[in-house]
Amino acid sequence: MFQAAAKTLSVATTTAATLTRATSFSLRHYCKKTPAKLRVSQAVAGAELGATVKVQGWVRSVRAQKANLFLHVNDGSSLQSLQVVASSELNDPLLTLGSAVEVTGTLRKSPHQKQPVELEADQIHVVGDCNPVDFPFKIKERHSLEYIRQFPHLRCRTNAFSSLLRIRSEATTAVHSYFKENGFVQIHTPVITSNDCEGAGELFQVETSGLYNEEGEKFFSVPAFLTVSGQLHLEVMSGAFSRVYTFGPTFRAENSQSRRHLAEFYMVEAEVSFTQSLEDLTKVMEDMFRSATEHVLAHCAEDVDLFHKHVTPGHRDTVEAMLKKRFPVIAYSEAIDILNQSSKKFTFPTDWGCDLQTEHEKYLVKHCGNVPVFVTDYPYDLKPFYARDNQDHPKRTAAAVDLLVPGVGELCGGSLREERLDLLRARLEEAGLEDTYSWYLDLRRFGSVPHGGFGLGFERYLQCILGVDNIKDVIAFPRSSHSCLL
Ligand code: 4AD
Ligand code: MG
Repeated sequence: MFQAAAKTLSVATTTAATLTRATSFSLRHYCKKTPAKLRVSQAVAGAELGATVKVQGWVRSVRAQKANLFLHVNDGSSLQSLQVVASSELNDPLLTLGSAVEVTGTLRKSPHQKQPVELEADQIHVVGDCNPVDFPFKIKERHSLEYIRQFPHLRCRTNAFSSLLRIRSEATTAVHSYFKENGFVQIHTPVITSNDCEGAGELFQVETSGLYNEEGEKFFSVPAFLTVSGQLHLEVMSGAFSRVYTFGPTFRAENSQSRRHLAEFYMVEAEVSFTQSLEDLTKVMEDMFRSATEHVLAHCAEDVDLFHKHVTPGHRDTVEAMLKKRFPVIAYSEAIDILNQSSKKFTFPTDWGCDLQTEHEKYLVKHCGNVPVFVTDYPYDLKPFYARDNQDHPKRTAAAVDLLVPGVGELCGGSLREERLDLLRARLEEAGLEDTYSWYLDLRRFGSVPHGGFGLGFERYLQCILGVDNIKDVIAFPRSSHSCLL
C-alpha cells in the first residue's frame, strides 16, 4: 500500500514536472480536452463561437423532429435561453421541460434570426429528471403571476419570476451604488431591537422557543422585537458620519392581506445631518429613485421589457413619464383641498387632520399627471414623536414628507427630526416615553444638529417601476398573515 502511494506520488511529480516544462502548445492542447463551462448569457452574446463548450441549466422547451432534436436551456443568467441542436440519436425520454442538463458541443452562428447562436451538441447528460405531468408549469403556456405564486419553491423556474429576481438584484446594486457615489456610509442596523420606532404597535416580539434556562428567565431582559425601522439607529450614526443609510429586512404585523403590505419587507433608509429644510430630503429621495430606475432600465432591458410588454402592457410609458420632469411638491393642506374639490366619492374621510388613505394617495397622483408627487407638512398629531414640529398655527403641522407614486400610493415616508432637546423631551414626556428614550434624548444633548431622513419600501419601488399589482409578486419568499410558506 505504501509502495502504491509512493508510485502515485511519483506519477504526480512527473506530471507536474512535465507540465512546468510544457510548451504553450501542449498546455493549450491539454486545456482543449476539458471544454470551458459557459453561462447561457455569455453563449447567446456570441462568446466562444466555434469553441467546444459545456453549458449547464434547465430545459425550457423540447422539440423532436425526425433527424434533429431542439432544446432551449436556461441557467438563470439571462431571460434568453440557449438553443441546443442535436442529432435525434441523442434524444432521451428524460429530456423534458424542467429537467436539469449538461450539454457539451460547439457554439455556432445560428441560421435562424430568432437566436444568433446555437449549440451543436455532441453530448447531452440529464443531471436531474423532471416529471412533466407533475411539474406545475407547462411548455408554451404563459402562466399568470397569481398561478405561479402558488409554487414559491418553483416559480423562479419561470421566465417572469426569474426576470423579476434579476431586476430585484440589479436594483439592489443600483441603490447601493447611488449611496456610495453620494458619500453615504452603509450601516447594518439591527434586526432585533427593543424600540418601536413608529410607535404604531405593529410589532413581532422575539423570544426563545423553549425555556432559556432553568430559572425560567427570559433571554432578553427587556421585551425585544423585530425591527419596524432602522431609523433610530441611523440617527445615532448620522451624529458621526453625517450621511448614512441602511437597506435590510423590516417587519410589521399589519394588514398583510393587502396588495401593498407584507409582514417582512425590505426598506432602504437614509439619514442626513445638517439639513436646512425638507428639500434636502426630497432631493435625495428623487435622485435615488431616478438613478436606480435609470440603472435598472439600462442594465435589465430584456427583463424589464418582459414586464412592460407582457405583464403590464403600456407601463413603459408611465415609467418614462415619471423620469421626465422634477417631481411636484404639494403641502398636505393643499392635498386635502384637492380631495375635497374632487367629484369623486371617497370611502374614507378627507377632513383636515385625517390620514391619507391609499384611495386618496392614488387620486392625488392622478391629479398631478400620474407622476410621483411629494406631500409635505402633515398634521403634527399624525406623526410619530421624532417628527420636527413646524410650530405653525392654528393648524399645527410637522416637517414630514411622503412620496406617492403611480399604481402604489405611498412609496417613501420621511421627516426632519426634532433636534431641539426641550421640544423632544416634552413630546416624549407627554407620551410617557422619556425613560425608554433617554439615550435618544442624549443625541440631542451631545452635538445635536438639524437632521432628517426617510424610508423607501423596496418592494413597492419594484411594483412601481414594473407595474406589478401584488406585492407578493416582487419578493422571493413573501410573508404575510396566515401565510409563511417555506
Ligand atoms: O412610512 P414608514 O412607516 O416610515 C418609517 O418607517 C420611517 N421610520 C422611515 C425613516 O424615516 N427612516 O415606512 C417607510 C416605507 C413606506 O413608505 C412603505 O413604502 C414601506 O416602507 N412600508 C411597507 N412596505 C411593505 N409592507 C409593509 N407592511 C410596509 N410598511 C411600510
Ligand atoms: Mg408612512
